[in-house]
Amino acid sequence: MAKPKTQFVCSECGGISAKWQGKCPHCSAWNTLEETVESPATTGGAHRFAPLAASSPVRRLDEIEPRESPRQPTGIDEFDRVLGGGLVPGSVVLIGGDPGIGKSTLLLQALASLAEQVDVLYVTGEESAEQVALRARRLGVPTANVNLLAEIRLEAIQNAVNEQKPAVAVIDSIQTVYSGALTAAPGSVSQVRECAAQLTRLAKQTGIAIVMIGHVTKDGTLAGPRVLEHIVDTVLYFEGDTHSSFRLVRAFKNRFGAVNELGVFAMTDRGLRGVSNPSAMFLSQHEQQVPGSCVMTTQEGTRPLLVEIQALVDSSHGPNPKRLTVGLEGNRLAMLLAVMHRHAGVVTYDQDVFVNAVGGVRITEPAADLPVLLAIMSSLRDRPLPRGLMAFGEIGLAGEIRPAPRGQERLREAAKLGFSIALIPKANAPKQPIDGMEIWAVDRLDAALERLK
Ligand code: TYD
Ligand code: MG
Repeated sequence: MAKPKTQFVCSECGGISAKWQGKCPHCSAWNTLEETVESPATTGGAHRFAPLAASSPVRRLDEIEPRESPRQPTGIDEFDRVLGGGLVPGSVVLIGGDPGIGKSTLLLQALASLAEQVDVLYVTGEESAEQVALRARRLGVPTANVNLLAEIRLEAIQNAVNEQKPAVAVIDSIQTVYSGALTAAPGSVSQVRECAAQLTRLAKQTGIAIVMIGHVTKDGTLAGPRVLEHIVDTVLYFEGDTHSSFRLVRAFKNRFGAVNELGVFAMTDRGLRGVSNPSAMFLSQHEQQVPGSCVMTTQEGTRPLLVEIQALVDSSHGPNPKRLTVGLEGNRLAMLLAVMHRHAGVVTYDQDVFVNAVGGVRITEPAADLPVLLAIMSSLRDRPLPRGLMAFGEIGLAGEIRPAPRGQERLREAAKLGFSIALIPKANAPKQPIDGMEIWAVDRLDAALERLK
């Protein structure tokens, strides 16, 4: 078979060059040319812009019958939750995470469960077939109906998939797959992108759901190709600190479900187990109330979660006091300390401030503002917050406390877990009283701190 022709496309301006150069001749950007397979539509300079024959007619949007995509539940409830109910035929899912966090294990478990109903294929490029079998046996995953292919050549994978026509195929991992059509090294951006694009095309054409496992780089993005995120339908990330046994799978992009949906797993010697009541795990067990701790309710996807925020404020011995956050936004902490200074008269410029979200969960929503400041105040004054208190609320630069979305759900979850005082934004105050819960609704930071005096 003749080798397909390749060309080099600039990732900045999209300009095409016949051979690789350090500098793009079109936009003069450096080091942006990437090798891609030339497709018929793009060959021949002038023809590139020739109109293509329309393959489907133009229609009015309201004439089109929306089709609800049927889903194939994986049988692993927490995984189905992040997927938005299961795998959609012909969709492509990219799942990323640090090495050793449990990507292969989760997908192997999912395939084992799916194999009871449909044909599945596991393509391994990272581990040998024996290694996969060994792990499956060790974890006690029933793999009788799981077909395995140890292969890294894209063309061979495409053939196998076309031949077997499974309902679901897993590629572990996309970085190990390479196409013989490109001269670039396996794992390079152009290889990964081209292989992902080809596999996506295969999924769309055949209706096979394809799950691609991807590695993340040190800075936490899926290695090299951010472009992959645009190609695929769903992007999931594995989170959780490697020292704890909890693992979170978060939907980062999902064409078929809610984003920021969170699946919670516990790692066991029998593989990953879904955690149905995750709120309990982010609360650390204290015999009695300790200073510097405040529980908040965060809304991740469709589910409220109770998370403990811990702060430590300690006198600083240097010209630059430390501001450190784990699981929370660092810049936001600096802003909150400034607001606390201006609107509540509390100074921290001679103090180191450390803030941590317990359990390795990452909180990005601003509703964490109030609990963070309460934890800091509590540590600064060395006085615990009242027993049974939980809080949430965004703090504005003017010292006002803004409401958080879906306040009622957050309150109900907290009440369910036995919290008896809710320090919340005034606009979130419930119209009907909640059984066993006292509501302290405040609209300004100074008022909130006043309540705790
Ligand atoms: P693995 O799934 O291979 O991680 P990744 O594919 O993300 O690199 O998991 C790493 C190791 O941890 C593997 O040897 C199996 C083990 N493991 C368990 O024993 N129990 C578990 O619940 C998980 C998730 C992993
Ligand atoms: Mg793996």
